[in-house]
Amino acid sequence: MIIVAGLWENGWLNSNVEYQQYKHVMKAYGVDKFLMAPIEVVKQDDSFPVEQYDTIEEILESFGNIKKCFLEWSQDFEDNGIPHVDLKDYEHPKDVMYVLGKSGTNNCYLMTEDDDAVSIVAPNNDYSLWGVTVIGIVLYDRMMKS
Ligand SMILES: C[S@@+](CC[C@H](N)C(=O)[O-])C[C@H]1O[C@@H](n2cnc3c(N)ncnc32)[C@H](O)[C@@H]1O
Repeated sequence: MIIVAGLWENGWLNSNVEYQQYKHVMKAYGVDKFLMAPIEVVKQDDSFPVEQYDTIEEILESFGNIKKCFLEWSQDFEDNGIPHVDLKDYEHPKDVMYVLGKSGTNNCYLMTEDDDAVSIVAPNNDYSLWGVTVIGIVLYDRMMKS
């Protein structure tokens, strides 16, 4: 079971476009569920609906039993004192929820000791990536290691 949960980049990206970008990568790589917060008016396809929640906290509580893999920029993990692994060294759990943040914030404050913390390195690590770019890289990495 692969679940992807995130926060809309509202204010930066149009949610209809963001949904379409997420939808294609998730369908291509066989993601089972797509969950986002907060609730936005989004044009979506019946073939791949996005389940929306008021907050990311509600998402995490609703799916308490699945392993969480928090994906954050290494700088954000370091600022919050959270040890993390580089994606290339990460062994993906069979059942997992990949958790993404948004610009101007991150989800480090929601992490527990049971959660995994994973970052993608870039040649210029002064820049973080959009969530939709991150999940494409992560799903490709998962496929290559399976
Ligand atoms: C635009 S980034 C936000 C980064 C930063 N917190 C900020 O305020 O600009 C949106 C989300 O993409 C994910 N992300 C961005 N860069 C990443 C990286 N290098 N490795 C893993 N995840 C990343 C994180 O989930 C992050 O919260």
